[in-house]
Amino acid sequence: MEFQNNVSLKSYNTFGLDARATHFAKVASESDVNAVLQQWSGPIRILGGGSNLLLTRDFEDELILHNAITGIEIIEDLAEEAHIRVGAGVVWHDLVLWSLTQNLGGLENLSLIPGTVGAAPIQNIGAYGVELKDVFVRLEAIRLSDGAPVIFHATDCAFGYRDSIFKRSAKGQYCITRVILRLSKSPQINISYGAIRQTLAEMGITQPGIREVSEAVVRIRSSKLPDPTKIGNSGSFFKNPIIPQTQFETLRERFPNIVSYPQAENRVKVPAGWLIEQCGWKGKRVGNTGCYAQQALVLVNHGGATGAEVKAHAERIIESVRATFGITLEPEVNII
Ligand code: EPU
Repeated sequence: MEFQNNVSLKSYNTFGLDARATHFAKVASESDVNAVLQQWSGPIRILGGGSNLLLTRDFEDELILHNAITGIEIIEDLAEEAHIRVGAGVVWHDLVLWSLTQNLGGLENLSLIPGTVGAAPIQNIGAYGVELKDVFVRLEAIRLSDGAPVIFHATDCAFGYRDSIFKRSAKGQYCITRVILRLSKSPQINISYGAIRQTLAEMGITQPGIREVSEAVVRIRSSKLPDPTKIGNSGSFFKNPIIPQTQFETLRERFPNIVSYPQAENRVKVPAGWLIEQCGWKGKRVGNTGCYAQQALVLVNHGGATGAEVKAHAERIIESVRATFGITLEPEVNII
């Protein structure tokens, strides 16, 4: 572990924004984290894959800690399932590919999600009917205030839709070091999403296993979502709003084509991408930023955008969706 000064964070965030860190350190083990805590007494901000982040400024006072703890090990090998312990710095999709080679199921619907394993619990990543919480056992973390090792079990994490304790009361207080997941040796595939079934049919696959489901998800994501190595982005920029059924009924009278997914407790999820598209933003470029042409929910950096420019665009979108639909979009991306 070594401290570096005046580091560009451009290659550490998928938006490709050129913020600078006056103080920077990369950690590859728990002992590296402890060594940092011994030597640095100021504020610390943890950076994983930087895939859910909008950097709007330079960082002069905080230490930016890049989590590069790697390693995947099977720690419990049971008849029906295996428990794996994964370093927080492992690239999420590399873990998915590893699970396929081991014939362990549970991660295939989460293929190609950008970011690292340590970031996955923070926002309870999800796609195509599966969320991290469905395979999560526990995680290991180091408390930044005193270096104490702490275990968080699933119930401690308070997982919700793109939400956990790490976005709320525990925000910024821990360095997640390892995540323990439960994978299945006789996987039940989940193809409840029509898009997966349709893609498998197009691929001519009638009896899909976890590899085929993963490949279908990769195809869908690649067709809809921009590759961050080519066009900077952070995936879905906003959460899909969940509104009361009564509010939804009123909206449906005005917008008969509104798309919706029923939720528990008389609530309805409305795709933010649809709302944004109706407001005319899809594919529209404003300066160096804008909404992706294939998926309005994804804000992009066409090259040379600043974080402040992207943030201003997000605010324009929030304002126009509020004016048209009376719904206030909430960013999913962490804006700092
Ligand atoms: N839609 C539009 N216009 C658009 C985009 C979407 O009308 O420009 C409508 C369509 O009707 C479409 C519906 O919205 O059927 C849903 O779109 P999509 O299937 O692309 O999913 P999403 O709700 O926009 C969510 C997650 C994604 C995840 C997909 C698939 C959130 C915020 N996003 O997107 O997660 O991959 O479902 O499960 O929940 C991410 O979190 O970064 C992310 C990419």
